[in-house]
Amino acid sequence: MKRVKTPDEVRAWRKTQPRLALVPTMGFLHEGHLSLMREGVRLAGACAATIFVNPTQFGPKEDLSRYPRDLEGDLAKCESAGVALVYAPEPSTVYPPGYQTYVTVDDVSQGLDGASRPGHFRGVATVVTKLLALFRPDVALFGQKDYQQLQVIKWLAKDLELGVEIVGLPTVREADGLAMSSRNAYLSPEDRQKALGLSRGLFKARDSNEKDVEKLKGIIRAELKDVREDYVAVVDAETLKPLERVGDRPARALVAAFVGTTRLIDNLGL
Ligand code: PAJ
Repeated sequence: MKRVKTPDEVRAWRKTQPRLALVPTMGFLHEGHLSLMREGVRLAGACAATIFVNPTQFGPKEDLSRYPRDLEGDLAKCESAGVALVYAPEPSTVYPPGYQTYVTVDDVSQGLDGASRPGHFRGVATVVTKLLALFRPDVALFGQKDYQQLQVIKWLAKDLELGVEIVGLPTVREADGLAMSSRNAYLSPEDRQKALGLSRGLFKARDSNEKDVEKLKGIIRAELKDVREDYVAVVDAETLKPLERVGDRPARALVAAFVGTTRLIDNLGL
């Protein structure tokens, strides 16, 4: 496995790859990230991964400085997943002095995490566009865990005609249902128990077969007693527009909540 830090090294290596999958990450890798990498290898024959804690997607009061990091451990995990190259640039490489170009995706960035985290999706869209432009992959893989992010990335790839297939893969969960997340590292054993309310509520809502959205939200909220709700939403799975009733089109339930000071998100198809 090759390990590089500069765009020039990426471009030189890219020329040697007939078909390529790309998996962008912020590191502190877990089984969710590795599932994307293995599928990338399967789909394209070769997979590159990026490890970059992207400063532009963090708000001023968010956890950028304390975001968990373990580059050496991550490299070993990438290698075990069959990754051919890891690009782990410095922030000053991605955003040199004078940097001033940003990508905004309008409609799907609004609401949900876009409302709670102003500027977040502008930062995500910018770094993902830069990575897709640098690597020119045939396929790029993202997790449904970050469901709104996945829709933002699908739209930017389509609107900017990047010619990359965006693949979304199911959320990988712990045995007790908790969605795997690098931020789970922040949770104390007590908080870890409280955090189970998010997935429990989503599974209860899905299994209820209820169609009325207010009732569905009630089922989810009943499991959020030990956490501080940020939002609970039931939306059209494609447009992310709020629904009143679940109908024939695919619907998605999404939840965000603070467990102590840690903000967690989860979602499920209904
Ligand atoms: P990060 O949170 O590191 O996630 C990297 C990728 O792994 C994303 O596509 C995310 O949806 C996916 N992922 C995270 N947890 C998952 C799980 N439990 N199951 C399946 N997939 C999971 O998302 C980001 O980084 C950043 O915003 C990024 C896209 C890299 C841009 O900076």
